[in-house]
Amino acid sequence: MHFFTYRGRELFAEDVAITDLAEEYGTPLYVYSYHTLLRHFRAYADAFRNYPHIICFALKANSNIAILRLFAKNGGGADIVSGGELYRALKAGISPKRIVYAGVGKTEEEIRFALRSKILMFNVESGDELREINRIAGIMGLKAPIALRINPDIDPETHPYIATGLKKNKFGIPIEDAVEHYRIASRLKNVTILGIHKHIGSQITKISPFVDALKNILLLIDRLSSDGLDIQYLDAGGGLGISYKDEEPPVPEDLAKNLIPLLNGRTLTLITEPGRSIAGNAGILVTRVLYQKKGEEKEFVIVDAGMNDLIRPSLYGAYHHILPVLRRKRRSILCDVVGPICESGDFLAKGRELRTVKKGEYLAVMGAGAYGFSMSSNYNSRPRAAEVLVMGKEHFLIRYRETHRDLIRNERIPDILR
Ligand code: LLP
Repeated sequence: MHFFTYRGRELFAEDVAITDLAEEYGTPLYVYSYHTLLRHFRAYADAFRNYPHIICFALKANSNIAILRLFAKNGGGADIVSGGELYRALKAGISPKRIVYAGVGKTEEEIRFALRSKILMFNVESGDELREINRIAGIMGLKAPIALRINPDIDPETHPYIATGLKKNKFGIPIEDAVEHYRIASRLKNVTILGIHKHIGSQITKISPFVDALKNILLLIDRLSSDGLDIQYLDAGGGLGISYKDEEPPVPEDLAKNLIPLLNGRTLTLITEPGRSIAGNAGILVTRVLYQKKGEEKEFVIVDAGMNDLIRPSLYGAYHHILPVLRRKRRSILCDVVGPICESGDFLAKGRELRTVKKGEYLAVMGAGAYGFSMSSNYNSRPRAAEVLVMGKEHFLIRYRETHRDLIRNERIPDILR
């Protein structure tokens, strides 16, 4: 469900015509719908309202500080995986007491920053990291709040690059080693055990992997409790999919209905880490048609957004709907929608049926609100796109389009070359 709809022939974001935004801010342009973001966030809050919980939005999906502020104002927390994300979360006004920190490669500097910031807990991914956090906390005269990230070996049935809870993945501590690691943690002087964490993957379109993984984790919690260790926070990770094409993924209400009965009677606080299911369908990428070309075998529609702006099609073969910003009765063509980047892997769609478009017209790449801008880069020295937030009839620039000057801002020509 989202608020990008046609009114007559024109595509709108809430009450604003996309054409007007494209004319005012230029393209490529990320456009987000305030009310879609809020609605998706509230869907989680409502679904879990009868169980103590924190919704920690996964910053990796979209880390614009205006969007984070929207969640902060509604009681949201953050799931972070780097010092940079911690910085963003704090700048956006997210309470450190609602921040959880995962990631297999936290550096000393990042661990210190998180300890100083007094975050809720580290989701620790290995024995080595556990000892490192203990050491650093000791030097700082602090106790580090921790959860262990457990890899429950559950198949989320998603793209292999975004499955994280299988034995062969680099994430977390294997479930069979969990008890041993909790024992080690309980003997360390400078850590406090608060919780347990799991995250099995992303773009999951079934309920059963979430249920199976939670059941495994609850068995483990019981085992730990019989060892005298009480877990306060159960961080169930993120991962709920969205509809890019014709998927019919469960919604937060379905998740809650299936998970809460398993949790009732336990005094836990549940943490969820949704990213895609909140931001994914709340954003689009608007792009302008530059050229058309008939190749030997197929037609190409060349647009001004490339894999540096939205890498999902190139990296995962991901499907994103592409809609005309102005609908016209034209014949359909089979084409590749490609960007200006000098690689054949640079495409937004392959073998797609579209109504003919002409130079200067706009297209909307749907479902680009998560892992869109946040994965963008300056490849081919392309300044990164602007981002706009639409709320009803109003719209706000939430990130300036980068300039050429921005591209070289951090570069220096040393004296020897002058
Ligand atoms: N928590 C942890 C520990 C994660 O690793 C992730 C995503 C999330 C939460 C959020 O998952 P979500 O609710 O968004 O599914 N770039 C890929 C997705 C990578 C996801 C990695 N981890 C893509 O564009 O599909």
